[in-house]
Amino acid sequence: MTFRRVLVTGGYGFIGSHFVRALLRTTSETQVTNLDLLTYSANPENLRDLEKHPRHRLVKGDVADPEVADRVFGGGVDAVVHFAAESHVDRSILDATPFLRTNVLGTQTLLDAAVRHRAKRFVHVSTDEVYGSLGPEGRFTEESPLAPNSPYAASKAGSDLLVRAAWKTHGLHATVTRASNNFGPNQFPEKLLPLAITNAIDGRKIPVYGDGAQVRDWIYVEDHCEALLAVLERGEAGEIYNIGGGNERANLPLLEAVLRLLGKGKDLLESVADRPGHDRRYALDSSKMRRTLGWAPAVPFEERLAQTVGWYRANEAWWRPLKKKREYTEHARAWYGAKLAAPGGAP
Ligand SMILES: NC(=O)c1ccc[n+]([C@@H]2O[C@H](COP(=O)([O-])OP(=O)(O)OC[C@H]3O[C@@H](n4cnc5c(N)ncnc54)[C@H](O)[C@@H]3O)[C@@H](O)[C@H]2O)c1
Repeated sequence: MTFRRVLVTGGYGFIGSHFVRALLRTTSETQVTNLDLLTYSANPENLRDLEKHPRHRLVKGDVADPEVADRVFGGGVDAVVHFAAESHVDRSILDATPFLRTNVLGTQTLLDAAVRHRAKRFVHVSTDEVYGSLGPEGRFTEESPLAPNSPYAASKAGSDLLVRAAWKTHGLHATVTRASNNFGPNQFPEKLLPLAITNAIDGRKIPVYGDGAQVRDWIYVEDHCEALLAVLERGEAGEIYNIGGGNERANLPLLEAVLRLLGKGKDLLESVADRPGHDRRYALDSSKMRRTLGWAPAVPFEERLAQTVGWYRANEAWWRPLKKKREYTEHARAWYGAKLAAPGGAP
């Protein structure tokens, strides 16, 4: 790794915590500063074993606070990998304001600090949701137009454009990555797969939006992190990189596969009203990543899915407390309350 001092934002969340691990595992000298506000979706347990690691330091703070950013960058930052975000679509439909503050204002605050303090790299972790929805054919390339359909996706698209502007205007060496749906250990159990796995373990209903035919292109979280390491090291300034697993699955058969892995019946699936503005299909053309940075996912999807189910089975102590947290149950009531018969079963 060329960069000695790397700032990771949102490194206590799902993907960020895997990335911090990957960074520490693959380097011997890199110092990681982990700037995280520790919101509801962060979990200190994600990195408990690295709390005293000599090359990892948590700074609890808000990416949208310029004083925090100045303080962190003032301590020396060569490169930034920016994960921190409000990340749950359903929450953005209930209230978009925190999404604008963290995802848009927070990104600009970090960009300003990166320019002022002459950071050498800025990797902005974004999402395929900025492209909107696809019909049955085709895939999004990096040239596809932005057409976000949820407040979450719109806030991420806005932040992507601010990153581009910092590159064009200030010459910041910035890259944008757009990944498809991640899955794996340590994902907050309000998202589709961990929600389904943990509800199924408890014999609780699993909400299925509409007809369950929405297609997502799934990527295992560690494959995503490998791709981000490649972009950090070798990505070209001003470029966008799609990072997809190439595993298109419709929600309903995916949930049925989870139930099979757990030896549970399909009776646990319960149809609920579809999410407003719900995108039908995402699929990413990731050939640029493969061609220019030599990255490709390593292990077949079915194997990763089985590993993931196994992880949630073996780590109940990780997810059970989260499902009891006030932030979790209040959101579940607000969102699913009227939709599911058994309120305890909704996420
Ligand atoms: N999960 C996916 O499938 C997926 C797919 C593509 C892209 N992404 C992007 O990857 C990034 C990480 O996603 P995730 O699923 O790990 O999210 P997450 O919700 O699990 O983690 C987000 C982290 O950001 C922190 N955070 C939130 N607001 C903050 C603020 N104002 N200041 C500092 N820290 C703050 C939280 O405490 C948490 O640790 C996001 O930018 C998301 O848009 C996610």
